Amino acid sequence: MSSFIPGFNNTLDPKAQFYLELADQCAAILQGQRNLISNTANVSSLVYHGLHETPTRDGKPVNWVGFYLVDVKRPDVMALGPFQGKPACTEIAFGRGVCGTAASTAKSVVVKDVCDFPGHISCDPASKSEIVVPLKAPNGKVHGVLDIDASVTDAFDDFDRIGLEAIANLVAEASDF
Ligand code: SME
Repeated sequence: MSSFIPGFNNTLDPKAQFYLELADQCAAILQGQRNLISNTANVSSLVYHGLHETPTRDGKPVNWVGFYLVDVKRPDVMALGPFQGKPACTEIAFGRGVCGTAASTAKSVVVKDVCDFPGHISCDPASKSEIVVPLKAPNGKVHGVLDIDASVTDAFDDFDRIGLEAIANLVAEASDF
């Protein structure tokens, strides 16, 4: 294993090991490719199937994994990028919904129950909980978000946040914006 995730490399916790393996798979698939669409497409697939097949939690019931990417012509709007799951809303403005909140604050948002998140944008009624991490270039500029929905409440915790932030950083470092 070669990926480094703060606080994960010196623990045998299966959830940490799961994200170290997933980060390795992402790093391998990103190698030599700088195209943002290709990279976010492949990472959406790896994360979706990885979370479904994670042995640590009998498979995590995620129903949507994907990216919203800043529209270069309208820098305060994100357009739907590559994803796995049911069709979704195509545009989210900074500050709107869970995705827009993560983008405008440049901070990850973990929602235990989407019914409790004011302004949550419901694309798939099956979604019950959600995690969104910002896609930040090495200079800190937000170029989009990685958004994951689950069909049960309270599906995501700090392991997921730290692991998914590491994966979003791998995508940002490997891609041209
Ligand atoms: N629920 C998100 C919108 C995107 S769907 O989950 C794919 C939000 O509130 O921003």
